[in-house]
Amino acid sequence: MTSKRNSLERDARVMRLYEQLLEIEQRLIPTGLHVFGAASELQEKADLLRMVASFDRPENGSRALPKLVAEALRIENYDALLHDSSPSETKELIDGLVSQAVQKFCESGADSAADWLNTQADVDREKSLPTFLLLTKVAEQLDSNTELDSLLSALRGEYIEPGPGADIVQNPMVLPTGRNTHAVNPYSVPSQLAFARAKHTAAALLQRCLEEQGHYPRAMALVLWGLDNIKTQGDGVAQALWLLGVRPVRDALNRATEIEVIPLEELRRPRIDVVLTVSGIFRDLFAPTMALLDKAVRRVAMLDEPFEMNYVRRNVQEKMAAGPCNFDDAVTRVFSNAPGNYGSNVNFMVMDSQWETEATLGDLFVTRKCFAYTRDSRGRSVEGREAQHLMNDALSRVEATYQNIDSFEIGITDVDHYFEYLGGVSKAVETRSKSRPAIYLSDSLSPQVKVRTLQETVRLETRAKTLNPKWYEGMLKHGFRGVAEIENHVANTFGWSATADAVDPWIYTEISKTFLLDPIMFQRLLDLNPHSLRSLMKRLLEAHERGYWNPDEDVLETLRDRLDNFQLGREQIA
Ligand code: BEZ
Ligand code: MG
Repeated sequence: MTSKRNSLERDARVMRLYEQLLEIEQRLIPTGLHVFGAASELQEKADLLRMVASFDRPENGSRALPKLVAEALRIENYDALLHDSSPSETKELIDGLVSQAVQKFCESGADSAADWLNTQADVDREKSLPTFLLLTKVAEQLDSNTELDSLLSALRGEYIEPGPGADIVQNPMVLPTGRNTHAVNPYSVPSQLAFARAKHTAAALLQRCLEEQGHYPRAMALVLWGLDNIKTQGDGVAQALWLLGVRPVRDALNRATEIEVIPLEELRRPRIDVVLTVSGIFRDLFAPTMALLDKAVRRVAMLDEPFEMNYVRRNVQEKMAAGPCNFDDAVTRVFSNAPGNYGSNVNFMVMDSQWETEATLGDLFVTRKCFAYTRDSRGRSVEGREAQHLMNDALSRVEATYQNIDSFEIGITDVDHYFEYLGGVSKAVETRSKSRPAIYLSDSLSPQVKVRTLQETVRLETRAKTLNPKWYEGMLKHGFRGVAEIENHVANTFGWSATADAVDPWIYTEISKTFLLDPIMFQRLLDLNPHSLRSLMKRLLEAHERGYWNPDEDVLETLRDRLDNFQLGREQIA
């Protein structure tokens, strides 16, 4: 019995390991920086084209290649397969055929690729050709960007053609690059597609909470960014509405300005309270959307429903019962910077090592973001009233924090803004609720929705990028700037220690082994960019000094010695 159980456990462990390896392998990563005005390389293009071909695009009359292959092979449960994260031979077979077809396309064009897919997988040429023709257009446009010409036109004060803002996978119409990005009509957000997509993401998010915490979160803090909601036409906004259990309704002018409550019988779970911390850019671009979100929270708070099924109502009523507080204050949930201000500055504080206790970082977040965008008791809009006590109170009930990730290009260790926002709000919650919140991110763009904890995401990003030779060698091709990018990644990773203690110590150990203790790599970095190398070493020592990493004494000594040599100007190692 025991040995049978052992072997089952071992099989399950091996399976989990295999899943994780697949996840890392399939992660799309940049293998170098974009060089202004330059076209991308063939392999990079092939990966991108494969992703472009993975989605149905009804606006273009083209279908997702994996679906076409699945249909031709008469695989009936393809959708279920796609949403199941466990590895399967069928999925591998389909992915393999699609990859080869795209490779064929890169070598010899749309017709040959459609023929190939017909011979190998019995996919009708007429069905796959529109997809390959789309790829032809995308590939051509990738080769011919107008960035330099547009820059010159801009400098001459000339007109630059506008284009939509998104990434290429979400909307290939963003090509050619070098155009003037235009935003969306805020009244169109969330789009019907975004709302439909968000249903799955919100469900997956709550399922994950339920599995890990054993109950639904009483309240969640969500981060909403402007550019992301332009790119996705409101994925983040739609997820917030789903958590509340409402849907947007369009008025006579087709503007999303109204709210319809989804009945509890249909929702089949409690309505989750949400605290929305929105960026300055979001506030500037999406004023009607902020009003919509505020309206949604108010509507839900007023529903005559039992507390155990309506957490917004429960929290608002409790707040009002606890002390002098009117409904308008108790229901305030949409916060941003003061008008004209941007950012939480948590990133600057971390980068400059200018903080004593972690709590300072959460406090700074609230100081910068505690401006309420809501209505007063007479229904007049309030745009940026300082409301620190209300934000503190709302955050004190939060049990989970969350941000939607929608880009293949930029992840949580690529820029400092993710830890500035999601890290900042999580630290603020931790000190106000006296308990560390669960922190989640979703990957709403891959065909299958993925919700990961912050720790899982840090591990994945580290393995797929920072420690991946494909990634760092791609960066090092760019010399000075490449080393700065590596250092940036390490600093941003450190940001997740500072704000959320979400970085396993092995990550710092492997970073130091890869970049500092390997003498050949150390010398390369030193030759290319001693400034960033020094910052990297200082950051690793800071990680140790602040208690995030406790390496062997000899590792510390080597790091300190090398840093001392630097400061004395004796940069060359023995
Ligand atoms: C935004 O689009 O809202 C945003 C962009 C960069 C950093 C932070 C927020
Ligand atoms: Mg920046």
